[in-house]
Formats: sequence, C-alpha cells, structure tokens
Amino acid sequence: MKLMLALDVMSKNEALKIAEETKDFVDIIKIGYPLVLSTGIEIVKEIKNKTNKEVVCDFKVADIPATNEKIAKTTLKYADAIICQGFVGKDSVMAIQKVAEEYGNKGAPKKVIMVTEMSHLSAVEFLQPVADDLAKMAKELSVDGVVAPSTRPERLKEIKEIVGDIPIISPGVGAQGGDLDKVLEILGDNDYVIVGRGIYEHNNPKESAKHYKKLISKN
Ligand code: XMP
Repeated sequence: MKLMLALDVMSKNEALKIAEETKDFVDIIKIGYPLVLSTGIEIVKEIKNKTNKEVVCDFKVADIPATNEKIAKTTLKYADAIICQGFVGKDSVMAIQKVAEEYGNKGAPKKVIMVTEMSHLSAVEFLQPVADDLAKMAKELSVDGVVAPSTRPERLKEIKEIVGDIPIISPGVGAQGGDLDKVLEILGDNDYVIVGRGIYEHNNPKESAKHYKKLISKN
C-alpha cells in the first residue's frame, strides 16, 4: 500500500520544503486548488524536480466535456494525473481520458482518477446514494483510479468490491478521523492512503510521514 501526501499548503516555499523533507517516505504527491491558485501550475514542475515523484492534481474537474478537455490539457501538460468528478456523467470523464491518452506515453502515462463517494460528512446527502453507480461507471470506463472514503470503511469496502482491480485512492485518515487500521484491512498493494494535515500540519512533517509510511507498510 502506498502513501499519497496531500500538499494543501498555500506557499511555494513551504510546499517545496515539506515535499523535500518527506520525499523518502511518500510515494506520490497530490496538490490541489489551495497550492495551485496560490502559486501557479508551474509548481508541479518544481515539486517534481525536487522530489522525483509523480504529482497528481486534485481539481475535482466537473464541467461539460469541452471545458473538461481544456482543463485537462492545461493540467496534464505538467501533472502525471488529474482527479475529476464522475457525477457529471460519462462524456465529461471521457473527454479527460482522451486528453490523457493524447498527452501520455508508455514510459510516462497520464492518469485519470475519478471521485466516487467523498470523505466529508455531507457526502452522505447527495453523493452517497449514487456512489455505487459512479463506481460502476468508473469500472466501465476503466479509469486509472477512484477516490473512496477512509472515513467510512464499510463504504470503502463496497466501492472496492465494485471497482475490482482499479486502484483506490483514499482520503480521510488523520485530520478527518478515519480509522487507519480498518482501512488497512480493506486496501491492497496497489491502493493509496492519502494524508494531508496529519503530515504537513505536524510539527515534524518528516517524522509524521515516516510514521504513516511505517504503519502502511506493516500490512
Ligand atoms: P487531509 O488534510 O484531510 O487531506 O488529510 C485530505 C486530502 O484529500 C482531499 N479529499 C478528497 N479528495 N475526494 C477527493 O477527491 C474526497 O472525498 C476527498 N476528501 C478529501 C482533500 O481535499 C485533501 O487534499
């Protein structure tokens, strides 16, 4: 099982410092609007240069196909993977997959990761009732990964059963209170545990990343 660092800090210096400090224990780095809107998309290149890790842009893209295509082109020029929402429907996700295919190559494929059920409390209001269908769509489209919640292990398990061998990327342990032990019972070698604040808000991000990596690797 792999550790994905959610680097949701707002300054370039802090981002690069934490990325470099934690790189020996982190498998892949996820950034999103907080960092990219504060510093610009070029930060992806700088993180990659500093760490030699893949960078995922968590933009939860949710627009019409024509706009999704433009967002994906700008993002995948820099990033290795992009996260999109599935609730907008198949054509919007496929527009991103088309860009990923065009921009990637065998040695450096570009990946499309789709959200099923989110990890926060209110995800149960609108998203949870359709999350199984979203997971089925993710399987049908053969996306490269799906996001499913560590905050609800029973749902994580159900979604994993639907998507089969598609890697799961799971946020919710650490600051959101997800139970890592339960999550470790469900996820497998190709899946990712996402930790953000539990690492970058820790007084020693390197030690925290080391701690999470050790816990995850024990399984
Ligand atoms: P924390 O600080 O809670 O960070 O460890 C979690 C990271 O994951 C993102 N996040 C999600 N992304 N679906 C997603 O695609 C989700 O359900 C979800 N929940 C949290 C969050 O933005 C942060 O980067």
